[in-house]
Amino acid sequence: MIETVTELSRLRAIVAGWKREGLRVGFVPTMGNLHAGHYSLVTLARRHADRVVSSVFVNPTQFGPNEDFTRYPRTPEADTTGLEQAGCDVLWLPTVESMYPFGVELAANVHVPGVSALLEGAHRPGHFDGVCTVVTRLFNQVQPDMAAFGRKDYQQLAVIRQMVADLAFPIEIVGGEIVREGDGLAMSSRNQYLTAETRPQAATIRRVLLGMRDASLAGTPRAKVEADGVAQLQAAGFHVDYAVVRLPDLGEPGEGEAGARVALVAAKLGSTRLIDNIEF
Ligand code: PAF
Repeated sequence: MIETVTELSRLRAIVAGWKREGLRVGFVPTMGNLHAGHYSLVTLARRHADRVVSSVFVNPTQFGPNEDFTRYPRTPEADTTGLEQAGCDVLWLPTVESMYPFGVELAANVHVPGVSALLEGAHRPGHFDGVCTVVTRLFNQVQPDMAAFGRKDYQQLAVIRQMVADLAFPIEIVGGEIVREGDGLAMSSRNQYLTAETRPQAATIRRVLLGMRDASLAGTPRAKVEADGVAQLQAAGFHVDYAVVRLPDLGEPGEGEAGARVALVAAKLGSTRLIDNIEF
């Protein structure tokens, strides 16, 4: 049976008990409205740990003023059932008051320079400060040995890895594979904002990413790959924030430089902003 915990003292007692028994603790932080992508992270955490804690907390500090904080879908009953079925031992449910005891305005912030400023950071100023601030707090609360983050949020994973290395958190960070719908659309809580008309178009992102990968591997210059990606997305009705090919650390590849790449897209269909990526 999963135990739902709302008091930090109870969470600490459970985790301390596990650690006394020599058990390894895994952690999957989420904002709820869980889907197969989240549950695959719980399965992944179970493979790396003996016990798994998952948190559900819609974090106000990572949403911009015109973003969807208030309408972000909240489905607590379904989340609890799904987490239990996925093999989660404890569901940690902090409140805004317990997460930010001095209030959001006076909260100590965690800022990871460099990688936070690129791509998502440029389009969503302050987003990664909010993510790092809440993940730091969650790490301090849960004190896991490992934590799982989805690779769909490629840049978030990169930012968290840098934060963990820089601040010497004794936590192994593991990236989980992207889980997709049948037509290739990456699973996301925001997919449910799509309408009957926009939902079929949303899968274009996956096709464009596959095309960007194939063109890059065939030696097409990066500027053309990116321009073609933007044009194809625009033709399908997207407002494009970026469609780029980067090094695995999100730096810009030099001309003719060989090696691994990641193509990343962020684009809006109506008011629904979607992100996805492909590593090659
Ligand atoms: O990826 C998410 O759902 C959130 O950014 C996270 C890591 C739970 C922090 O609020």
